[in-house]
Amino acid sequence: MSQEYAYLRGDFLPLEQATINVRTHAFLYGTAVFEGIKAYWLPETAEMAIFRVAEHYQRLCQSSHILRLVPPLSIDEMVDLTLQLVQKNQCRQDTYIRPIVYKADLRIGPILQVPDTRDDFCLFTLPMAGYLDTAKGIHVGVSPWRRLDDNAIPARAKVNGAYVNTALAKTDGALCGFDDVVVLTNEGHVAEGSAMNLFLVRKGQLITSPISDNILEGITRQTIMELADRELGIQTICRAIDRTELYIADEAFFVGTASEVAPIVKFDHRSVGTGTVGAITQQIQGLYNKAVHGLLPQYEAWVTRVKMGG
Ligand SMILES: Cc1ncc(COP(=O)(O)O)c(C=O)c1O
Repeated sequence: MSQEYAYLRGDFLPLEQATINVRTHAFLYGTAVFEGIKAYWLPETAEMAIFRVAEHYQRLCQSSHILRLVPPLSIDEMVDLTLQLVQKNQCRQDTYIRPIVYKADLRIGPILQVPDTRDDFCLFTLPMAGYLDTAKGIHVGVSPWRRLDDNAIPARAKVNGAYVNTALAKTDGALCGFDDVVVLTNEGHVAEGSAMNLFLVRKGQLITSPISDNILEGITRQTIMELADRELGIQTICRAIDRTELYIADEAFFVGTASEVAPIVKFDHRSVGTGTVGAITQQIQGLYNKAVHGLLPQYEAWVTRVKMGG
């Protein structure tokens, strides 16, 4: 296998050397924000297609702003480094890209800004095929763990430390035999999946939780709403969702960069609709799959192509 690189402290380093000091603030307190970006291998043209890369960096900057982090690079510079790393790592398969802006100070004390505070940017890639089963449908449980509140650790910022909440919910869900979980807000509304947004289909309409119900403002969620509206004429209603609506939905699916469109066929041991992957879910899955592979010319602007050398 050829040498893999990561970007750290302003340089491309061999992956084994891309390590951080044990006293790094982000390691001590989780004071970092990140993104998950997916790039797809297109064998016919020998290109990697990176999906909505600029939007991911815009969200990284928003997350940074909430956490009083100052990315040391502009969005264009971070996009450019991402393309360079994909090329340098000779990624010739579906790949997950993880940029992080983090508090790089070597100091004790959970305060976000002190004079001469130092924030840094790092980046690595990882081969990633399927994150969830997107073919036959998954069984999802409602987690007893609640989603973090906007006034505790805001879910709309992708904060590294906040993923302890995700890890608790997902791990306990897995131990109970579920493929993944739905987390509720403190008020008891459906927020989202462990690391994905949720859509229900009821009476031919799409329903998803509003951004004020402690969800990450997902880029895939936005993509699906646009595709469903423009290509299928199906509008999405963003409104609070009760737990028991999960049980009587006609169809349901998770969406996210890593999970893509993952059909849900059971919630808490109750089948969703017919208990098989629904027709609207299949249509949306097909459209999304085409969009990320650059097969929908009208959405070509979503795809950044990187030509890979022979
Ligand atoms: C908590 C959470 N919700 C939703 C999503 C889906 O967001 P996106 O579609 O931007 O990947 C993710 C994944 O990044 C996530 O971690």
